[in-house]
Amino acid sequence: MPENDLDTYCAANEQRHVDELIEFLRIPSISADPAHAADVRRNAEYLAEAARKAGFHHAEIIETAGHPAVYAERLVDPKLPTALIYGHHDVQPVDPLNEWRTSPFEPEVRDGNLYGRGAVDDKGQVWMHLKAVESVLAVRGELPLNLKLIVEGEEESGSVHFEEIVDAEQARLRADILVVSDTSIVAPGIPSLCTGLRGLAGVQVQVQGPALDLHSGRFGGDVANPIASLAEILASLHDPVTRRVRVPGFYDDVREPSADERALFASVPFDVDEFRAEAGDVPATIGEAGWTDRERLWARPTLEFNGIWGGYSGPGQKTIIPATAGAKITCRLVPNQDPQHIAELVRDAVLAAAPIGVTVTANAVGGGRPVVTSIDHPAVQAASRAMESVFGITPALTREGGSIPPVESFARVMGLQAVLVGLGLPDDQIHAPNEKFTLDMYFKGIRVLGRLWDELAVALRTS
Ligand code: BES
Ligand code: MN
Ligand code: MN
Repeated sequence: MPENDLDTYCAANEQRHVDELIEFLRIPSISADPAHAADVRRNAEYLAEAARKAGFHHAEIIETAGHPAVYAERLVDPKLPTALIYGHHDVQPVDPLNEWRTSPFEPEVRDGNLYGRGAVDDKGQVWMHLKAVESVLAVRGELPLNLKLIVEGEEESGSVHFEEIVDAEQARLRADILVVSDTSIVAPGIPSLCTGLRGLAGVQVQVQGPALDLHSGRFGGDVANPIASLAEILASLHDPVTRRVRVPGFYDDVREPSADERALFASVPFDVDEFRAEAGDVPATIGEAGWTDRERLWARPTLEFNGIWGGYSGPGQKTIIPATAGAKITCRLVPNQDPQHIAELVRDAVLAAAPIGVTVTANAVGGGRPVVTSIDHPAVQAASRAMESVFGITPALTREGGSIPPVESFARVMGLQAVLVGLGLPDDQIHAPNEKFTLDMYFKGIRVLGRLWDELAVALRTS
């Protein structure tokens, strides 16, 4: 039952809040696909207009060498604290398309969930912010603090131009706290605040054998096969017994979680069977020896193969030694690993493992740095109270294994601390077919954020 004016307003406007989000989700803002560049731009313009309608005084497009970002602000009083909201309006590609129950850009509500690409990552959570602003203004006429909003269009493709924006716009982006809604809570009944994210670094491997595909009878047995060579290289990158990454220097800079941190991780409920179900019914969990599932996910680095290609995989047989094979590798990083350095170490390990008879090339791509937010910051307590007032439970403090590199950019470039107030659920299928946002979380999120501004205004008061 609504307890106050904000809740009453939110309850009365739920249907419209869903209908509006559905319209936003119809725009296919896939940043990775150049064919959708015009859609990403249209998405940015749509968002800027929506920000104005929600009550931001000023909203504009910030151009980059890639996809545009959106900036908006509502400056109430220079004496009040200022919060900066960060999010992203781009989405992941949708393939495999035939596994979607309904089309990714024709969102549909089923069983209390809104299905569509970007429903929760991150368009739905950005929209949640706009609706919170709209709701507070409708009920109270003004915000209790200054609010700024920056929403980028390239997060899903590595935020390649975002740090340039942070650098160039430092003065305008200045704030007392960064608020990001792009993570998840533990379970519908267990609210949580995320206090750390892993980083990312990558390497692309190309193995060149013969200049052209060869007849495997005429040449097989005396000419190196690029697929076998690639398999050898990739297999060498993990220890088969300890499952540790076998790249020289890989763990050198890793800051191991402290006893306090490990105790904090262990205090958050973890049901391995539920986790296996969320992971698509995998038969067992597996990872680096000596660490719990949670520690592996939140505080240990990994090396993963994201894609592999080579040879013939069509129907029937084709007896060849293929000319080439290749693979995409990414590593999740933890404090204090450096993305560029790790990418170079992996590249060197790949090249060192190259067998004779093929030519191996490996290109390092640095992704983003890990970030751990301070759990003592008054904004974390403020966010905790805001969540508790809606969920009736004090949120757990968690971390996530995913990456949002801009959060670290804000901290390093501007000294800006973040509070991560995400309302996703572990089974939202982000980046996968049938991504969804549970409407109960969307509605609760609007109310949490509405209260957050009050809590932050008090907690960050300077005088
Ligand atoms: N919202 C996610 C990050 C995330 C995922 C946080 C899962 C918490 C749990 C974000 O949009 C994302 O997908 N990030 C990419 C970053 C990469 C492209 C640099 C990721 O983690 O792979
Ligand atoms: Mn996201
Ligand atoms: Mn994502």
